[in-house]
Amino acid sequence: MMNSKKRKIIFSVGGGKGGVGKSIFSVSLGTALAKDGYRTVLADLDLGAANLHTYLGIVSETPTIADFILKKTASLEELLMETSVRGLNLISGAEFVPGMANPAHWMKLKIMRHVKSLPADYVILDLGAGVHFNTLDFFGVSDRGIVITAPEPGAVMNAYGFIKAALFRKLQNIFRRHSAIGPIIDAETQKKEAEKILTLDWLTEKIRGTAPDMLPLMDEVRQSFTPVLVVNRIPAEQKNVLVKNLIDLCSNKLGVHLHHLGNLPEAQTISNYLLDIPAFLESEAGSLYCETVEKIKNRLVNQYKIDRRNREVKSDFTDGEISEIIALMEGLDNSIFRDSTRDTWKLRMYFKPAAVVQYLIGRGVSHDAFYESSS
Ligand SMILES: Nc1ncnc2c1ncn2[C@@H]1O[C@H](COP(=O)(O)OP(=O)(O)O)[C@@H](O)[C@H]1O
Ligand SMILES: [Mg+2]
Repeated sequence: MMNSKKRKIIFSVGGGKGGVGKSIFSVSLGTALAKDGYRTVLADLDLGAANLHTYLGIVSETPTIADFILKKTASLEELLMETSVRGLNLISGAEFVPGMANPAHWMKLKIMRHVKSLPADYVILDLGAGVHFNTLDFFGVSDRGIVITAPEPGAVMNAYGFIKAALFRKLQNIFRRHSAIGPIIDAETQKKEAEKILTLDWLTEKIRGTAPDMLPLMDEVRQSFTPVLVVNRIPAEQKNVLVKNLIDLCSNKLGVHLHHLGNLPEAQTISNYLLDIPAFLESEAGSLYCETVEKIKNRLVNQYKIDRRNREVKSDFTDGEISEIIALMEGLDNSIFRDSTRDTWKLRMYFKPAAVVQYLIGRGVSHDAFYESSS
């Protein structure tokens, strides 16, 4: 539909505080994408407090992600359930099962592997509240993390805490096996909040001093950690100082550019439709709420169209570029490499670089050396 490679895009919806509207927004975005003809999957990853099925009016007993985690089902795809919206499928979350809220790391990787191979154009991961590792990890591996906040001080600070925790967690996950950089990050993470530095610029300087070969990877982290912000339940034309503060805080304290995607208005009638949000969207078609969802959906879709159109993957690589990409591969997480080992993939770089680069892009890795320069 979008691209010959048909890579699916994974959005995650997080934000720290419970009740700010993550799940309602996930259903609204999923419905808007499906109505555009995109095959869309909503995955309820609020492990332990799932409610997407309720918002979608699914009352019958259905298989849930618990069945996958408890190995009663071999694949996530088997859990896909149709909803009242054509093209929108649901992977239902689990009612509380002991131990479920904190799956082991390998299980999270397995869930993500299965998410990446779902038959869909877009997958939306609806995450739980708080900054549990599982929430941060799912947020960190998605293509676009969407942070939802209400315009109140408490919720905004929670959103900041969430973005910061997600960045730290991502850096930790990437560099944990690096003998020089891993300990630098760990030491900083353990400091008191007020003394913590860990901006991307600061870490880049540290890496320049200790392990300059890792700079391309750091660049990649910088390019890939680009959360976007949606403010929910805000009076339409109200200028929100808190939001500006949040964006400034992310930029100054973390070195993260937080892009503000839109403000969803308070929708009074939602409460009449909590057992059928698609019916709410239908009945409110043309309302400010629906128009805003539409605008946000278009922005998200266009970001990827633009990325894809402007960036043409090279077919020939110079020796310098090959070494650069191999250095990048050395720093990637083990989970990137399937089918054969990292070393095999590195060697393959010498005789089939374009195939390796296509593989890496398919696994969500991006680097300037992959693409023709646009100038
Ligand atoms: N834009 C909105 N306007 C009015 N009420 C909303 C809006 N978004 C969410 N809500 C209300 O907030 C409640 C919590 O939303 P939910 O999406 O379940 O939060 P979360 O997933 O972040 O915990 C919903 O049941 C709904 O009543
Ligand atoms: Mg929720």
